[in-house]
Amino acid sequence: MEINLNKLPIFDSHAHFDDTAFKEDLSAVVAEMKENGVVGVINNGVNYESSAKIVELAENQDIFYSAVGVHPEDLYNGENFSPDKLLPLLAHSKTVAIGEIGLDYHWDTHPADVQKQWFEDQLDFAKQVDLPVIVHDREAHNDTLEILKKHKPKGVLHCFSGSNEMAKEILKLGMYIGVGGVVTFKNARKLVEVVADLPLDRLLLETDAPYLSPEPFRGKRCTSDLIYFTAQKVAEIKSITTEDVLKASMENIKVLYNIL
Ligand code: NI
Repeated sequence: MEINLNKLPIFDSHAHFDDTAFKEDLSAVVAEMKENGVVGVINNGVNYESSAKIVELAENQDIFYSAVGVHPEDLYNGENFSPDKLLPLLAHSKTVAIGEIGLDYHWDTHPADVQKQWFEDQLDFAKQVDLPVIVHDREAHNDTLEILKKHKPKGVLHCFSGSNEMAKEILKLGMYIGVGGVVTFKNARKLVEVVADLPLDRLLLETDAPYLSPEPFRGKRCTSDLIYFTAQKVAEIKSITTEDVLKASMENIKVLYNIL
């Protein structure tokens, strides 16, 4: 499917290509994404096993990079964060961040105090190894902001879902804001307001593939080339060109993750 007729270069700052949704046809999907202009994708680990898996994928696919970490829904019951499990994965030159880490009070799979401990331990770890972080915040805005203010990490608040006021606090910390397919949804009023005010040099485009496909593909399996539609919507909100949005996001991704 041709979705980016001008073949504008696309860099996806957040995806999960180790997901079972791509088990049957990953090589074909990657080939088609490249055909549609995708030049880079940062896959995010959600636990130790998936972090190892995406690092392996990055060895086999030139467009893949990795963020390694333990997601708040994937914490190991009764265990503390163990840096030793991630350290070997950092030796790989395409491992560029710690993520995705953070707080998720929607699913409430693990108690808040346990989630906070893992989040803070992984923020400390990221600082020790001098890597930026990719932060997940679902229905946990206050605690996320409080912890980020305390640790002041380099990084991004991915799939931003907070208020415009919160976005401004995040920017004050020097962090980036991740914007995905949700901005194209009909009910995205709050995020549209955030994007309208967001300086271009703090925007990271993302998919969260296989989830959160932008319109007109909402509900379908998401792939990184669909970022084109998210960029189009951001361009419309900011009255600039889609090319400028894709370019700015790619530039920001390369600076934040130190990708040449
Ligand atoms: Ni994700």
